[in-house]
Amino acid sequence: MEHFNQFISRKGTRSVKWDMAEELYQDKDVLPMWVADMDFKTPEAVTNALMERVEHGIFGYTLPDRLVKNQITEWLSKRHGWEIDPEWITYSPGVIPSLHMIIQSLTDIGDHVIIQTPVYPPFYSVIKDHGRHVVKNPLVLKDNRYEIDFDDFERKIKENGVTLFILCNPHNPVGRVWTKEELKRLSDICEKHSVKIVADEIHADLIFSGHKHTPIASLSEPINQLTITCLSPTKTFNLAGLQTSYVVTADASIKKKLDKQFHNQGMMMLNTLGITAMEAAYEHGEEWLEELNEVLESHRDYVMERIHSETSLLKVFPAEGTYLLWIDCRGLQMNQKELKSFMQKKAKVGLNDGVSFGDEGKGFMRLNIAAPKSILEEGISRIIDAVNAQ
Ligand SMILES: Cc1ncc(COP(=O)(O)O)c(C=O)c1O
Repeated sequence: MEHFNQFISRKGTRSVKWDMAEELYQDKDVLPMWVADMDFKTPEAVTNALMERVEHGIFGYTLPDRLVKNQITEWLSKRHGWEIDPEWITYSPGVIPSLHMIIQSLTDIGDHVIIQTPVYPPFYSVIKDHGRHVVKNPLVLKDNRYEIDFDDFERKIKENGVTLFILCNPHNPVGRVWTKEELKRLSDICEKHSVKIVADEIHADLIFSGHKHTPIASLSEPINQLTITCLSPTKTFNLAGLQTSYVVTADASIKKKLDKQFHNQGMMMLNTLGITAMEAAYEHGEEWLEELNEVLESHRDYVMERIHSETSLLKVFPAEGTYLLWIDCRGLQMNQKELKSFMQKKAKVGLNDGVSFGDEGKGFMRLNIAAPKSILEEGISRIIDAVNAQ
């Protein structure tokens, strides 16, 4: 566990989180706790595999062969009990590129796509950028927990003739790991109205005790045929810069359309080092991942305990997975501009603006807890001190 406590400066590595922070927050003393990557080193087995590959010295076009597909298949089977056929896999440089490809290949201009808000900001842009319409099914807050309004979901699908649903599971930013029952209800509605499901399950491996990730495609064969699942080892093992990901599509005709779209955009290869990293991570990274999940869960508990015992003005939602905490700052009674400025200038922490996830994020901020405890302690102390100094 010690390696998760080690502070490693990322400044000067062209890190978006650390090196862009000064420009973004206009203050070099702001502690960056925003963009969704981790301040932890990837497992040693991954670094060793990369070093060995780098040592080889030739980085020509590289084939992600059958072996890599088998590793992905095994990972999904052992971590999530989901049995897939390796032939269902399409490689992609990232989940965002995959979402762009999916929207373009499976919907037409003017089509309606439903999302559950507040949600990861690119969900809006991947729809709007291609001339499709966003339909919102806002999540509802009940007893300090975000839940799905199923009636609204079905009504909006019917009213707008929705053809595609982008699911975020686990959900960024609210931290819910949707239960099998919730997913079943959603998928029943989708099946009834022939709505295809795009499941962004990039956070699938980051799950806390008492919760279990269910790939929505694993619910039944008809749902499997309706679903396109976007996955990646990059959140799990902190490899986002290596841009290596994949899509799982069981329906052959949907997969054909999607593959054609990737092909037409010239996306037919994976990053050489990304393949090596993914292979090593899936083969040797499980023990490290178990430790990571324990660390993240203890960080969640730490943040909740401190904030709730030291101020009554902020409320932290108990994330069930991911390393992102959604904080209700409405008790501060500030408008969004004031809240952003308060966190930046008074608390000197760089958080994600709640409104970037949709209007439902007004009065909220998102905090990244995937950092050594010392950084987390510093960030939380800054927030609490600033709140209490008001
Ligand atoms: C829900 C979700 N999807 C996709 C991504 C980004 O995926 P990628 O880096 O593979 O494009 C993120 C990153 O934060 C995310 O939270």
